[in-house]
Amino acid sequence: MSYGLLKGKKGIIFGALDQNSIAWKVAEMAHSEGAQIVLTNAPIALRMGEINALAEKTSSIVIPADATSEEDLKNLIEKSMEHLGGKLDFVLHSIGMSLNVRKNKHYTDSNYDFTHKGFDISALSFHKLMKTTYAMDAINPWGSIVALTYIAAQRAFPDYNDMADNKAYLESIARSFGYFYGKEKKVRVNTISQSPTPTTAGKGVKGFDQFIAYANSISPLGNASAEDCAAYTISLFSDLTKMVTMQNLFHDGGFSNTGVSQEVMEKFS
Ligand SMILES: NC(=O)c1ccc[n+]([C@@H]2O[C@H](COP(=O)([O-])OP(=O)(O)OC[C@H]3O[C@@H](n4cnc5c(N)ncnc54)[C@H](O)[C@@H]3O)[C@@H](O)[C@H]2O)c1
Repeated sequence: MSYGLLKGKKGIIFGALDQNSIAWKVAEMAHSEGAQIVLTNAPIALRMGEINALAEKTSSIVIPADATSEEDLKNLIEKSMEHLGGKLDFVLHSIGMSLNVRKNKHYTDSNYDFTHKGFDISALSFHKLMKTTYAMDAINPWGSIVALTYIAAQRAFPDYNDMADNKAYLESIARSFGYFYGKEKKVRVNTISQSPTPTTAGKGVKGFDQFIAYANSISPLGNASAEDCAAYTISLFSDLTKMVTMQNLFHDGGFSNTGVSQEVMEKFS
């Protein structure tokens, strides 16, 4: 069902890799809610070509950008405004990657080259993106910027490795940049802390299958799906959430506020 929540709005969506990506679902829903969008991803991710099907489905174009490159970001924002015919109303940062996770480096034995690279991609890119849109005055007043995060920023989840640190930094950037963006340009900045979700990034974490089942059994509503996350993201892009900024918003079926569930208790009785 469509409510026309984003009618007349323009935005950029980072991070749609394949049909499982959270960004993929956000792009589909933004389109059906009436938005005009530009899709972007790292040049290497675009080589797989799946994003072209999404572009066709959502009447959008794809502009490559490595989110760690300020030059790429500037080019992306410029070209997007040209294509969309004006300033932006929303941006989704749906980007994450840890080389330590990928290369099976234990947290206690981090490779710091990997740590730097993963930090640049997963956290600093959010600052670089906002530095660019801010300097170019590319976002309309009451526009909305959202990044995706995970509760490992607040609590220890051993196999999440250095992504926990990256997410803590990402959430902090949302508050720090959100202050200036709100004060100077009336633009909102929030992070959504999503349930574990079976995507390429999600499944890269060791023990993901057991973990997703555990989270589901703890959460009173069960795990939130990628589609649920897209719907929540759209609400943050809409005018219905105009006064929400600098928040880390848990979207996890109640996981974050649950100590223990009946199902887990039964396993020990
Ligand atoms: N899947 C989960 O369990 C889960 C839970 C909470 C939060 N998140 C977050 O959601 C976001 C989206 O991840 P997803 O689960 O949809 O997985 P995904 O693998 O589909 O998306 C990750 C994206 O990051 C992109 N990316 C990597 N390096 C990049 C770079 N240098 N420049 C631009 N893009 C780059 C990838 O190409 C990919 O499209 C991430 O921030 C992730 O940490 C995921």
